[in-house]
Amino acid sequence: MAAQHPIPGFPDDFVFGVAAAAYQIEGAVTEGGRGRSIWDEFCAVPGAVARGESGAVATDHYHRYREDVALMRDLGVDAYRLSVSWPRIRPDGTGPVNAAGLDFYDRLVDELCAAGVTPAVTLFHWDLPQALQDDGGWMNRATAERLAELATVVGKRLGDRVGMWMPLNEPVVHTLYGHALGVHAPGLALGFGALQAAHHQLLGHGLSVQALRSAGCGNIGIASNHAPVHPATDGPADIEAADVYDHIVNWTFADPVLLGKYPADELAALLTGPVDDDLATIAQPLDWYGVNYYEPTVIAAPGDGAGTVGVLEVDLPPGLPFAPVPLQGYPTTDFGWPIVPDGLREILTLFRDRFGSALPPVYITESGCSFHDPDPDADGRVRDTRRIDYHADHLAAVRAAMDAGVDVRGYFVWSILDNFEWAAGYRERFGLVHVDYDTLDRTPKDSYRWFQAMLTARRTDRNGDTRLPGS
Ligand code: BGC
Repeated sequence: MAAQHPIPGFPDDFVFGVAAAAYQIEGAVTEGGRGRSIWDEFCAVPGAVARGESGAVATDHYHRYREDVALMRDLGVDAYRLSVSWPRIRPDGTGPVNAAGLDFYDRLVDELCAAGVTPAVTLFHWDLPQALQDDGGWMNRATAERLAELATVVGKRLGDRVGMWMPLNEPVVHTLYGHALGVHAPGLALGFGALQAAHHQLLGHGLSVQALRSAGCGNIGIASNHAPVHPATDGPADIEAADVYDHIVNWTFADPVLLGKYPADELAALLTGPVDDDLATIAQPLDWYGVNYYEPTVIAAPGDGAGTVGVLEVDLPPGLPFAPVPLQGYPTTDFGWPIVPDGLREILTLFRDRFGSALPPVYITESGCSFHDPDPDADGRVRDTRRIDYHADHLAAVRAAMDAGVDVRGYFVWSILDNFEWAAGYRERFGLVHVDYDTLDRTPKDSYRWFQAMLTARRTDRNGDTRLPGS
């Protein structure tokens, strides 16, 4: 083992899981009656995705899911967070259900249960049926109702075996990248007009929670991306700009779900429709809240209109009330993201302070890092020591948040496999398992072995701390 890290103690029932999403791993985009998704269309736009790559084959999980479930079983995780492909289940988003599509997830869920891995299902991880997009997509209020219909179909079929449900993954990223800036599907650059798409996703969340409960499903939450926002300096202009940004990327997405209101009247005023009634629907009681964490953001007051957001280094339009600036002084992943484990502790304690008793138990529904891992060496090993460090340090941050009173119940690694990293394509590798994209061979990395050793030790010693052997 490349590194030995003591893992701080976690309760026996703390859930260790891995995560992935349909378009990023399944491939088989024209098989089994699947319809087209907005990502199929977006990938066909010249220049939209690095090197012109797409999810057409991805990791071929659609055909190799048994092998992938066996990898999860051998890893020893408690749960697997998967997403269903909406166009595989309902090809045009609104018409008849495609039996072959639903059957695939039925087989996958059976395979997971037989392996002792609890399925945790996301209904919408960004792959909207193109037919719904042609009707306005998330800018059209009706799409929220379509998602609730999907919830009913999937909930009735899989609800007897699925242990956790989440209608949405990261509405903030789908809104900002997909609808405000145009660098993800569906490629719309609407600026602040994208908030309407955020509102409709949140409405879809609320309606889907209701639909899932009506279908007899329980243990429902959301997987939402959150991170601390820091002002670049102590100056009042930077502090104000950071506050505005924080409201947009964090609280616009959490407050409606947990408190039934938007964090600022100015934001709600940009929306159309019966917003107050919608907020009552959005704020369905949840069994848990999922936080996806990657990196904190630093914000300065707007300067000359220059500024980029996130690792995609998207040029922002001029006239915005904030300017993201790079966070200096930390190591970075090979994707260029600063590695700041304490940011995870910080956002969790911010949630504790902001929401108090309105915050249900929390899961870390994603945490992970991309390194440009080499192919397996002569010994068949991928020595990804930095990924081991990353997860050890982020788990320690989770433990620190728990010690500070945050009720965290689990941690899902993004991702079980290297996969299609959206507009960045295949170069960014987040997996515990290496994928050779020529042969589609899977090779567990050292980080997989590290988690496996930890989880094995935990199974044999359920009395106390989860520790690596020898630590
Ligand atoms: C998403 C994943 C993505 C990961 C790394 C999250 O934004 O849910 O689909 O691959 O982060 O970028």
